[in-house]
Amino acid sequence: MSRSTSRTRPPEELRSHQWYGTDGLRSFSHRARTRQLGYLPEEHLGKPVIAILNTWSDINPCHVHLRERAQAVKRGVWQAGGFPLEFPVSTLSETFQKPTPMLYRNLLAMETEELLRSYPVDGAVLMGGCDKSTPALLMGAISVDLPAVFVPAGPMLPGHWRGEVLGSGTDMWKYWDDKRAGLIGDCELAGLENGLARSPGHCMTMGTASTLTAAAEALGVTVPGASSIPAVTSEHDRMAAASGLRIVELVHQDLTLSKIVTSDAFQDAVTTVLALGGSTNAVIHLIAMARRAGVELGLDDFDRLARSTPVLANVRPGGDTYLMEDFHFAGGLPGLLSRIPDLLHLDRPTVSHDTLREQLAAAEVHHDDVIRPRDRPVAAEGGLAVLRGNLCPDGAVIKHIACEPRLLKHTGPAVVFDDYRQLQRTINDPSLGITADSVLVLRGAGPKGGPGMPEYGMLPIPDHLLKEGVRDMVRISDARMSGTSYGACVLHIAPESHVGGPLALVHTGDLITLDVEARSLQLELPDGELERRRAQWAPPPARFERGYGALYADQITQADTGCDFAFLARPGRVPDPYAG
Ligand code: FES
Ligand code: MG
Repeated sequence: MSRSTSRTRPPEELRSHQWYGTDGLRSFSHRARTRQLGYLPEEHLGKPVIAILNTWSDINPCHVHLRERAQAVKRGVWQAGGFPLEFPVSTLSETFQKPTPMLYRNLLAMETEELLRSYPVDGAVLMGGCDKSTPALLMGAISVDLPAVFVPAGPMLPGHWRGEVLGSGTDMWKYWDDKRAGLIGDCELAGLENGLARSPGHCMTMGTASTLTAAAEALGVTVPGASSIPAVTSEHDRMAAASGLRIVELVHQDLTLSKIVTSDAFQDAVTTVLALGGSTNAVIHLIAMARRAGVELGLDDFDRLARSTPVLANVRPGGDTYLMEDFHFAGGLPGLLSRIPDLLHLDRPTVSHDTLREQLAAAEVHHDDVIRPRDRPVAAEGGLAVLRGNLCPDGAVIKHIACEPRLLKHTGPAVVFDDYRQLQRTINDPSLGITADSVLVLRGAGPKGGPGMPEYGMLPIPDHLLKEGVRDMVRISDARMSGTSYGACVLHIAPESHVGGPLALVHTGDLITLDVEARSLQLELPDGELERRRAQWAPPPARFERGYGALYADQITQADTGCDFAFLARPGRVPDPYAG
């Protein structure tokens, strides 16, 4: 049974009452300014104020429909007796923002937190979906701990080109490699430009966006089934209106985020990501969100749960055929979760139901090849493995279901690139002697060194090997990888090279052993050699001398702890704005 609306909070209990309802000069001023905004007293006084945080922007194709969609959220809020106010917040466009929107995830998290805290807000609707916007909005909202509902932007429609169905991101990489291998030319590329991403919405593969919005649904902060609804459909409008209705009820029930995003909820979000064969980026973002909620979540949780969680979503790039629209019509996340009830905490609340069990009661799967049954999984174990070893003392991550099996256990000589520009300049240089057995190593691409851990982790395979048909190699870095990428890429090495992690000490020609079964990544060096090299290592100069980049480098934490800012991640008191 869904949540009832039995209780209406008296106006004096609402947070916004301090702004509007008290006797002093300030309330008089705030009421006068709300008249200036064009509202009658009876339209808003005593009603829950709902902030709609909207990441819409002309530069963000994944969110370009959210300006209009916010109107549906407002409709729901009005109908439920709330007072909606839309706040434009910064947009993180995975495609356009350089060097990477990851550099700005924490900035949007800060903006979210401070807007909600400093304005007369009783509850929030958070609108986003393109990769980092989901964790950013949730991290900020969790820190304020008001009631909140997340409205996922929704996936774009499937791509089409010459009779083929295209996945955004995934097919971009694939066809770019085909162009480099001389298999297609400019004419084909022009057609692909039109077909790869053909509607508003986030990437429709199981990339970072689809993974993180599904994680938000699994956490319990969206209305049921919200995360896979295609962005441009009427169903998406209805979901937005339902979210507006719901948030007002949550304010009346005082169901703040901390009551939803519990330790059990985060464990279930991890299980969900694994059952989806989701993006490696989820590891960093879920750890960051959990820490904001005061929940201890670490790399070992991912590895432990991966061993008992089958991959059931047959969605590219982890699966081989389908895209998010197929997943949606196959039953979406409720369908998938209905196949793993034994792996979930069913008695925890969500924004819509008293328990997850109730929420999933009517869930069904309508297409067994898209959402696989337990006895026919895409992979028997979850898609991620956490590696340890002398090259990554604080851990590293590999999406092993997306690599060629022959590389899961591999020893090869390192070819080291000190930064991404050097890699771009020299990767095709024959004098490097790169073979299919080489281990490509990129450093200087971590949280501090990148800065912002750009998605450089799927290092390009040299042209001469591509022409020979080589499509996968072992690649290791302190970078991240796009959720739509694939290959034997070891990512998120911690500590990163920029702060003196062992990755900084690798020489070209050193042997490196990857053994996914043993969860190990080793630099094969004689005893004492690593220490000898460390004694000679000097830290690189700071990348930023001033500005946000300098603040970022000063405060950013390493990948295994979520890349939050230290001053945001730590617990502590923040004064109420009205207490001064
Ligand atoms: Fe926005 Fe892929 S570019 S989700
Ligand atoms: Mg991405």
